[in-house]
Amino acid sequence: MAHFRVWRGDADGGGLEDFRVEVHEGEVVLDIIHRLQATQASDLAVRWNCKAGKCGSCSAEINGRPRLMCMTRMSVFDRTETVTVTPMRAFPVVRDLVTDVSFNYAKAREVPAFVPPAELGPGEYRMQQEDVNRSQEFRKCIECFLCQNTCHVVRDHEENKAAFAGPRFLMRIAELDMHPLDAAPQAGLDRKGTAQDEHGLGYCNITKCCTEVCPENIKITDNALIPLKERVADRKYDPLVWLGNKIRRR
Ligand code: SF4
Ligand code: F3S
Ligand code: FES
Repeated sequence: MAHFRVWRGDADGGGLEDFRVEVHEGEVVLDIIHRLQATQASDLAVRWNCKAGKCGSCSAEINGRPRLMCMTRMSVFDRTETVTVTPMRAFPVVRDLVTDVSFNYAKAREVPAFVPPAELGPGEYRMQQEDVNRSQEFRKCIECFLCQNTCHVVRDHEENKAAFAGPRFLMRIAELDMHPLDAAPQAGLDRKGTAQDEHGLGYCNITKCCTEVCPENIKITDNALIPLKERVADRKYDPLVWLGNKIRRR
């Protein structure tokens, strides 16, 4: 048996509810939540889909730490420990463990898509393996939004949400900006400039909390955010860019 404490409520408020519940060998936290639904709390709301750490739906906070419920083994807890499960804190609660993550979809829509070069036909360019590897790491993202939930810029600062895309989407901008074929500049789109001015890259002070909670172990800060910051800084202090900007302003 385990002692579970689960947040129940909705947008108007709620609180923690205690349960004694059976636990079997090899189970994960999501199994226990499902057992609660089946035996003691049939109206307990929880979002999940794959139970394999791949759909990114079952994000929650377990003993205060943002995690996937389906990838958190019960064996990591002491038998006498109370396991507290609460919804992600940075997003509005819909009901119980389900949050409204539409903030993230809005931010995703604000990032312009890859711009294919007009002059290249299919098969006319061979990507270097190094370039493939770089963006492949970012493509492992399952959009669980645990990084978005954890980043201190928005976690307790609703007021910053309008100006900050969050680590997941700054990483997407970094991925596109590093892509050797992205023709955004030719299309008049300044990814580095908009990362800084519109998507809030400057708010990130590289605390790396996003990286720590990523279930895909993506090095969000080291491989996406810091390189993007460096590219923005290089561009700012590049004497040729500086001269170009000066001439254009005349
Ligand atoms: Fe989740 Fe990692 Fe993607 Fe963030 S980068 S949404 S933590 S998988
Ligand atoms: Fe936030 Fe990650 Fe930067 S937690 S401050 S986006 S390094
Ligand atoms: Fe799909 Fe947990 S249920 S990631």
